[in-house]
Amino acid sequence: MFRCPKCGGLLDVSVKDLQWSPKGSGIWRYADMLPLKSGVTMGEGRTPLIESRLKRNLWIKFDGANPTGSFKDRGMALGVTVARESGANKVIVASTGNTAASAAAYAARAGMRAYVVLPKGNVARGKLVQAALHGAEILVVDGFFDKALDLVMEYGTKYAYPLNSFNPWRLEGQKTTAFEIYEDLGCPDNVVVPVGNAGNIYAIWKGFKELNMLGLCPKLPRMIGVQASGAAPLARAWREGLRVPLFVERPSTVASAIRIGKPVNWMKAFIAVQESGGMLVEVDDGEILRAQALLARNDGIGAELAGAASVAGALSLDLPGTTVAVVTGHALKDPDIVEVKTVQVPSHEELMRILER
Ligand code: F0G
Repeated sequence: MFRCPKCGGLLDVSVKDLQWSPKGSGIWRYADMLPLKSGVTMGEGRTPLIESRLKRNLWIKFDGANPTGSFKDRGMALGVTVARESGANKVIVASTGNTAASAAAYAARAGMRAYVVLPKGNVARGKLVQAALHGAEILVVDGFFDKALDLVMEYGTKYAYPLNSFNPWRLEGQKTTAFEIYEDLGCPDNVVVPVGNAGNIYAIWKGFKELNMLGLCPKLPRMIGVQASGAAPLARAWREGLRVPLFVERPSTVASAIRIGKPVNWMKAFIAVQESGGMLVEVDDGEILRAQALLARNDGIGAELAGAASVAGALSLDLPGTTVAVVTGHALKDPDIVEVKTVQVPSHEELMRILER
């Protein structure tokens, strides 16, 4: 499913008669750039672009401000609509958590059942809670995300409509990130994106290219993909000049959303980076944690760790011109990662002493 019968590569969507005529709000504001003109919606998209205080010319596209707290909602709105129109009543995803939360919510809204296949012990608490809250059937497998995805691709698609990012309709929704950045800022010089299964970096690149085809973004941004060093098959392949990545059997990083060793969209990510003159880089867990704290304390932005990886990348690189770092998920997704310090207040005198300091 969704593979070319000749070469085995993943399929792509090509929208005929692209037209730039934004109206309304959210992703459907760009209906004339999308393969569908309307669909299931919760107002996804229209997320803020925030000027950062961490570095000159750095902007944060805060996609944690989507309805379920991650960028996945952009694609899920479209994907669930296609699923419903194709007559399906069940959807299925493998997930490190955010796709599951989003699929669960959008399936609920569309009146469909959602099955989410999760790697045991590798999913942040907030995301699990969302999947449960929205009534998804939660299926847990031993192993990493990559195994869950293999199972969905091999068996799941026979029974339910798959909504992982190998499904190109999802990427059509996600490309709207580029349109929003363009409306708010014009064409930046660099767009930095965290990379896990590697669909989003391609989706955003596709969005910019479509603007360019319409003469709107004459100088395209460089696409810069950031992986966590314990789960960085693409950044490594890029650095070593390999045409095909060596996958990572046991991916490891604090950023569980991108704890992925075998990104299904690897070829699309290479295309985005190659065509745009960008790069794939890695950051270590320390840099990711530090970027999360810096963003939270200086910009007021609560990013989940995978989302902060793009900022870690932007801070570690010397990038000329304007840079947009996409923060893909909200800090509340993974509350267990943050150390909470409290101060016991035994009396009002003690309270006053503390407040006086
Ligand atoms: N950031 C967050 C917060 C994510 O949840 C993901 C992917 C990514 C970045 C990477 O995006 O896969 O398009 O390269 N999460 C998937 C999931 C794998 O199951 O929620 P990508």
